[in-house]
Amino acid sequence: MAGLPLTLRAEELFILVVGAGAVAFRKIERLLRAGATVRVIAPDGIEAVSALASDDRIDWRRRAFRTDDVDGSDLVVAATGVADVDRAVASACRARKILINCVDSLELSTVTFPSIVDRDPVTVAISTDGTSPTLARYIRTRIETMLPNATGALARFFGGKRPRVKATIDDVAARQQFWDDVLASSVPDDVYRGDLARAEAGFDRLLAGGGVQTGLVSLVGAGPGDPDLLTLRALRTLQRAEVVLYDNLVSAGVLDLARRDAERIYVGKRRDFPSTRQESINDLLVEHAHAGRRVVRLKGGDPFIFGRGGEEIETLNSLGIGFEVIPGITAALGCAAYAGIPLTHRDMAQSVRFVTGHLSDDRTNLDWPELAKPDQTLVIYMGLASIVRLCAELLAHGADPEIPLAIVSRGTLADQVVIRTTLEGVAQVVAEREIKGPTTTIVGRVASLGIANTA
Ligand SMILES: C[S@@+](CC[C@H](N)C(=O)[O-])C[C@H]1O[C@@H](n2cnc3c(N)ncnc32)[C@H](O)[C@@H]1O
Repeated sequence: MAGLPLTLRAEELFILVVGAGAVAFRKIERLLRAGATVRVIAPDGIEAVSALASDDRIDWRRRAFRTDDVDGSDLVVAATGVADVDRAVASACRARKILINCVDSLELSTVTFPSIVDRDPVTVAISTDGTSPTLARYIRTRIETMLPNATGALARFFGGKRPRVKATIDDVAARQQFWDDVLASSVPDDVYRGDLARAEAGFDRLLAGGGVQTGLVSLVGAGPGDPDLLTLRALRTLQRAEVVLYDNLVSAGVLDLARRDAERIYVGKRRDFPSTRQESINDLLVEHAHAGRRVVRLKGGDPFIFGRGGEEIETLNSLGIGFEVIPGITAALGCAAYAGIPLTHRDMAQSVRFVTGHLSDDRTNLDWPELAKPDQTLVIYMGLASIVRLCAELLAHGADPEIPLAIVSRGTLADQVVIRTTLEGVAQVVAEREIKGPTTTIVGRVASLGIANTA
């Protein structure tokens, strides 16, 4: 191994930075964040460094570097951008055996700064020993997506519990097993969500030797189809789930991201196919949660936009089952973005409405005069058959027949189709074209904008 990773207690360090340009500033910021005491030597520098000096956050000596400046430093950073000066700083440090990081030269450095994933107090450092900062950044980005923001909170939670666990479980191996059990339980998820009361209760129960806790149900928005539109939290939750209940709007690409060994249960509801009744879905959620599993209810788009997410959480709530809701990109936003249609526009639409027509008895009770008004955008979440009826109603209530309309089918997927027409042209388009998959229709002047017609 080329490097020796160490964690320094920065608050006890005195660090000299030679240079006050942009590169030096980035290093100074990082050192200050870690709690170090920083002195800067440079005849001049950028405004941001001046501001730190004005705020007394650094001691800036505005003059050229002198060899004895390094005396008494625990670490020196040379970031002048002038090779000769950096070399002089490095040789002064090496002669005194002071650690030196020369930002422009691996050869002159005895230490390098790794790329950092910061989840205070958890720190992940990535070093390629100076061979490829780009690769280090890439690896860092991957780790950033894996570690929840609240990883630090989990570390603090565990840290606070250690004395009690040590006092309760004597045997080292048994203690290790206990911590593994805690990590595999819903306690970490509870901490991540900030539900410390539930986390405490779960922890106490495990420590008292209690069995599995009631599992957690996560209502996860799968977005409109393109797996790249999942949120980081949705992805992490999906990858931890033991059971995934999904409906027909969830794309295969998103479902593929679930853990390989997760049980996948299709609970789709489609008008033309035998459907899984909502009560059966609720029963399944409850059954798996009671078995202590980590359950994901994966719903197309966003769970709370025409997704009956509200009904599912009511059931869970009434039974005291823990749940969380992870938002997703709703079809309106996904389809509009991928078709290049801005849903609001200063000159064309000051408001946007999301409309659906499915009611329990298959009738609509929409406010037609309001919907027919100009200068707004309507985004209609409905199958094509209903669209024709809805457009006829809009025309009957005085909407402009020439108003542009875009039908986006299989939005955000590789085979997305965007068809442009007008309010009065929609019936003909629907009659003549074979349009497949879920469709979202955008009505309003903005629908004339965006990418050229596809198909
Ligand atoms: C029951 S709603 C569910 C909406 C979902 N919760 C959301 O936020 O997108 C189903 C409707 O969403 C729309 N939809 C969902 N995914 C779509 C996609 N990939 N392309 C076009 N429309 C879509 C269609 O209008 C479909 O009839």
